[in-house]
Amino acid sequence: MKNLKKKITKIFKEFTVDEENLIPILQKIQAEIGYISKQGVEEIANFLRITEGQVYGVASFYSQFRFTAPGRHSIKVCLGTACHVRGSQNILEEFKRWLLIEPGETTEDKMFSLETVNCVGACALGPIVIFDNEYHGHMRIKSVDELIQKYRTEYETEREVDK
Ligand code: FES
Repeated sequence: MKNLKKKITKIFKEFTVDEENLIPILQKIQAEIGYISKQGVEEIANFLRITEGQVYGVASFYSQFRFTAPGRHSIKVCLGTACHVRGSQNILEEFKRWLLIEPGETTEDKMFSLETVNCVGACALGPIVIFDNEYHGHMRIKSVDELIQKYRTEYETEREVDK
């Protein structure tokens, strides 16, 4: 936690105490730390002399901000128009069904984080999922199951080796 405070304090040095800086500060913290923790919200509120409710209010309005630590693997489902018409919502539902989380959340075992994005510039490949930094085009429900199984199996194998 001390380390987190240090990192956040360092980020504040780049900004003046001005409410207008709330979004740039949130973006910087998200980029450097990976998410906006409860402590982060408190620190921002203190720094900008606003309430924690105001910080949450703004941060939760934008889907780009997450409030839980990212998992080991990041899953981004594109819900842009081209992917949407090709069934990306069903792909998202399948990930939710498998992982038992909503977009913006991380699974209990910290393995997977789920997010939605809007058009990543590869519309012809839609519906598209970015798994870690790898693009998976023409996703089908079956491909969701295969992806999750593959990474879960790898994880289980690693754990066996570590024993
Ligand atoms: S809409 Fe998904 S990549 Fe463009």
